[in-house]
Amino acid sequence: MHNIAVLASGNGTNFAAIARAIKKGFLKANLALLVCDVPGALVIARAKRAGIKTLLMQRREFATTNDFEAKIIQHLKEEKIDLIILAGFMRILSPGFVREYKGRILNIHPSLLPSFKGTHGIKDAFDYGVKITGVTVHLIDEELDHGPIILQEKVRIEENDTLESLEKKIHKVEHALYPKAIRLLLEGKITVLGRKIMVTTQPGLPTR
Ligand code: GAR
Repeated sequence: MHNIAVLASGNGTNFAAIARAIKKGFLKANLALLVCDVPGALVIARAKRAGIKTLLMQRREFATTNDFEAKIIQHLKEEKIDLIILAGFMRILSPGFVREYKGRILNIHPSLLPSFKGTHGIKDAFDYGVKITGVTVHLIDEELDHGPIILQEKVRIEENDTLESLEKKIHKVEHALYPKAIRLLLEGKITVLGRKIMVTTQPGLPTR
């Protein structure tokens, strides 16, 4: 069984969706750790309620980002974490961290990347007036919102949508898409070829 850690800064609805997927048996993994960098974030209460080990790691308690990340890595190693899941973790991991867990850090972003990168993906798409936006799950690389894409799903912006209604639609898609992408990775069904990710489905009968 793989050990996974979630890194989050906010409400934790994606964290909750992943915890639910594990409980239901859709994901066969051990949610060993939540790392949160924001005191009082709702995700901390959710993790405690679910009985999941929780660490509050504040950047300002460390002299450098390097020291901050080294401490997180130490905890990840202690828990023998195989896969790191960023779920609204509003910090950019340094290239050193990414190299340490290359191919084993996932992120979810609330737009169809490479459009609307950054911290306000939903609002930026809404304000721009695009008719179609969506959700992206991708592997992390050294650049922001840039790594190879595992899954994407579109969300249509209707004329009567408000920012709030769009946020709801995006989150609903996120909560289904993230567990699916995590499952593909855990089941070894993902092959990374440069920027491209190939998803292997069940092996079928060989064709003649
Ligand atoms: C999610 O919408 C996620 O896509 C977004 O933060 C939200 C966290 O919500 N992440 C980013 O914008 C990353 N650039 P949650 O705390 O309820 O899971």
